[in-house]
Amino acid sequence: MRRAYWTMIGAALAAFSVPAAADPLTPTGRWSANTDGFAPVPPMGWNSWNAFNSDVDEEKVLASAQALIDTRLAALGYRYVNIDDGWWLKRRQPDGRMLIRTSHFPSAATGADTSFRPLTDRLHAMGLKAGLYSDIGRNSCGQIYTPDFKNQPEGSVAEREVGLYGHVDQDIALYFKDWNFDYLKVDGCGARGLPADAARVKSGLYRALTPLVDMQSLGGSDVAGIRTLYEEVHVALHKYAADRPYVYSLCLWGAGDVRAWGKDVGNSSRTSDDIQPVWGRMLTNLDTVTHRALYAHPGSWNDPDMLFVGTGDFDEAHLTEARSHFAIWAMVNSPLIIGYDLRKLTPALLAIFGNADIVALNQDPAGNQAVLAYDSEEVQIFVKTLADGSKGVAILNRTALPAKAVLTADHLKMLATADVALRDLWSKTSQTFRGELAVTLAPHETLVFRATGSRRLANARYLSELTGSVNPAADGVVVPEADPTIYRSITPWTKTRGPGDHPQYGGWGGAEADRAPYGKVMRMAGKTFDTGIGVLANSRLEVRNAGYARFAATVGINDSGQPRSGTTVFEIWGDARLLATSRAVAFGEPAVLIEAKVTGVKIIELVARASATARPVQPAIWADAALYR
Ligand code: GAL
Repeated sequence: MRRAYWTMIGAALAAFSVPAAADPLTPTGRWSANTDGFAPVPPMGWNSWNAFNSDVDEEKVLASAQALIDTRLAALGYRYVNIDDGWWLKRRQPDGRMLIRTSHFPSAATGADTSFRPLTDRLHAMGLKAGLYSDIGRNSCGQIYTPDFKNQPEGSVAEREVGLYGHVDQDIALYFKDWNFDYLKVDGCGARGLPADAARVKSGLYRALTPLVDMQSLGGSDVAGIRTLYEEVHVALHKYAADRPYVYSLCLWGAGDVRAWGKDVGNSSRTSDDIQPVWGRMLTNLDTVTHRALYAHPGSWNDPDMLFVGTGDFDEAHLTEARSHFAIWAMVNSPLIIGYDLRKLTPALLAIFGNADIVALNQDPAGNQAVLAYDSEEVQIFVKTLADGSKGVAILNRTALPAKAVLTADHLKMLATADVALRDLWSKTSQTFRGELAVTLAPHETLVFRATGSRRLANARYLSELTGSVNPAADGVVVPEADPTIYRSITPWTKTRGPGDHPQYGGWGGAEADRAPYGKVMRMAGKTFDTGIGVLANSRLEVRNAGYARFAATVGINDSGQPRSGTTVFEIWGDARLLATSRAVAFGEPAVLIEAKVTGVKIIELVARASATARPVQPAIWADAALYR
């Protein structure tokens, strides 16, 4: 009797007990960043939003699609034709089926059940792919934030709930199985803008939804809650679209700590609020991806937002700025989504979108986002290692004045004693230099080169050259912080009203290529290193090994850390087997060598484990980290 009682209690407890969360430092032998869907290289195409706002219709979409074909931009890779906010009419009651605004999309008038199938069939017949837009909450951005928004959903409160919330399975089945879309952008306004005291909730226009994200407050965001909602969409896409290549584009503007988990859930993830056709705003958006090269890989890209080439500061009269915006987006592996009314395309703008050499930098199969090789408020040098070992180089003048810059062989990890050949990807001219090259940049100009030379490591790759193959599965960040280095610009919609822009996009202190966390120089016991991976202790990096035989690094605590903060042990794992362990290293000690044979290993894991007493968390450096043939 007694025993039966305890067995019963035990069973009841077991049923309710939550399994202990897996230790994030435990190697799994797996690559954990997202590889579902289809984005081996950054998606390219066109989207209606920057060109037409919510005033989108079938004629505009098809004209843009036709222009992609006629200009041969489609042949270059611009294949996705994406309908953004403004397409919906209402959610029919009581069955909840989404209805399309047929006054704007006449081919969708297929009877009581409207359908985008005729339109997607047409796009597919043109050799293109079709994308659609939704929101993770019950309501869309236009409904919540834009009073004079065109094409607002109509009807009762329930009919105007056009977002995915509570309808994920139903909507994804409709959009992918019935309507046959290939791409879905999922915005987040519905999970942000409808607290019970919002004016539009109090007036009875919309139902309240307790906000899960607060753009201004990471602490005030329900990170697990918002992640769960985006994961539900991932699961539904897997269920209804697994039979075809699809793209899942997260649009959470860098909020809700998405910088830490977006790569595990979607194929691309927005890192900032909306781009504007304004130079300063383009820089803001760029800055939100610059320090995040290690968080982007084939299958999961950083997204600083769509291109604004053709408009405002990037229009026909500002081709220098337009070229800079385009080239730098290509270098950081942003999705290249044109946001221009292609019916108005001019030869000069086409020459930008159609620059095959620059598109090739973006679409390089190695998928390495450019790494910051030189940084300042004025000039930045970005270097991107390509699959063949050559380098894409962009030298950006952020200022409205001419600037001088010096590019060195070291920026390229090439020998200063041999010629480096540079091909200018705008002018198509070539030159060589030895050691260093002085250049002058026009205001807002970006020089873009493809560089070939004698690599410093002839038969090996530095890990920081392989950012697309390194995933910070655990990056040691305990309290996510906003990145203070992001350029803060005057936004066109508020001008200089209010207190101004605050640092708000999270990610500061995460894993970095060729830098210590918090953008610091890598230096241990006074010795500086110019290559490596900087990360906080209590971290685990997953590394895809493409046939290399040996891994070696010089490891330790960065001089930017703190004394009396315990020790850190560095470990190399191969397919979940421990291969090598360093001795415990403390702040101020010289770095130590760690190496292991990795022949035949698929996933190498690099673990930096802090002793229990380590407070605060120390910057742990894998300096000179490299894979050798
Ligand atoms: C924003 C999003 C934009 C656009 C807009 C539509 O939240 O960042 O890219 O989709 O909503 O209302």
